[in-house]
Amino acid sequence: MIKGVILAGGAGTRLHPITKVTSKQLLPLYNKPMIYFPIQTLLEAGVKEILIIVAPEHSGDFINLLGSGKQFGEGVKFSYEVQDQPLGLAHGLGLARDFAKGSKCSLILGDNLFTDSFKKEFDEFDESGEGAVIFATEVPDARRFGVIEFDDQMNAVSIEEKPENPKSNYAQTGLYIYDEYVFDYIDQLTPSARGELEITDLHKIYLAKDQLKAGIVEGVWQDTGTFESMFEAAEIVKNMENK
Ligand code: DAU
Repeated sequence: MIKGVILAGGAGTRLHPITKVTSKQLLPLYNKPMIYFPIQTLLEAGVKEILIIVAPEHSGDFINLLGSGKQFGEGVKFSYEVQDQPLGLAHGLGLARDFAKGSKCSLILGDNLFTDSFKKEFDEFDESGEGAVIFATEVPDARRFGVIEFDDQMNAVSIEEKPENPKSNYAQTGLYIYDEYVFDYIDQLTPSARGELEITDLHKIYLAKDQLKAGIVEGVWQDTGTFESMFEAAEIVKNMENK
């Protein structure tokens, strides 16, 4: 069974002052805290054991809100790990080593909103998947993201973190599935110029081994990293709820 990790740490500095005294992932998207949406995406994909990575100053609030996971369904179990400093997405995932205990593992960013179900992809990977799977979608502002370049057969050929001159309009979204070797590869990473262990560098390792598969997101995807995108995400949720 694939386990799930949600990254809900980080400093949230881009959203000051609204993230000055609370965590970005606890802010509302219309009628629910943001983190409910990545939780829902994992639950729909069949993931029940979920580790939530939090920043030390907000850890109590996450536990108060989410508890053991029981309220989200039968057999759902949440555990928590504190990331002392926001040293990067791959660093946060590295904290899940003991939790994963050698099984396949997925990662979703706590500020990402998806409307797709990924059940099929998760079931396939659980059964026979190797390497890593990432999910891409076309965006108007690729420079804000990890950018994936594809060949004619839609195989990923390069991936770059927030490039000045993007090679495509395909952003890497914040949902990833990994085989059991992911923690060995995290050990090989070194901090980037901004002092973080980058998720894109981890994916470059899989790409070099010809083991990086990129799926395409069919539905809506929103990263809520800016005021504008957070507002848009709230509107998407409002429309879904009112349907
Ligand atoms: O949303 C997709 C993008 O997410 C990808 O396209 C990029 O390749 C990837 O690097 C990432 O970029 P962001 O700049 O959006 O990442 P951000 O710093 O906003 O962090 C994403 C989430 O992870 C956010 O919920 C905070 C959390 N986080 C972040 C860091 C740096 C942690 O829990 N720990 C951390 O150390």
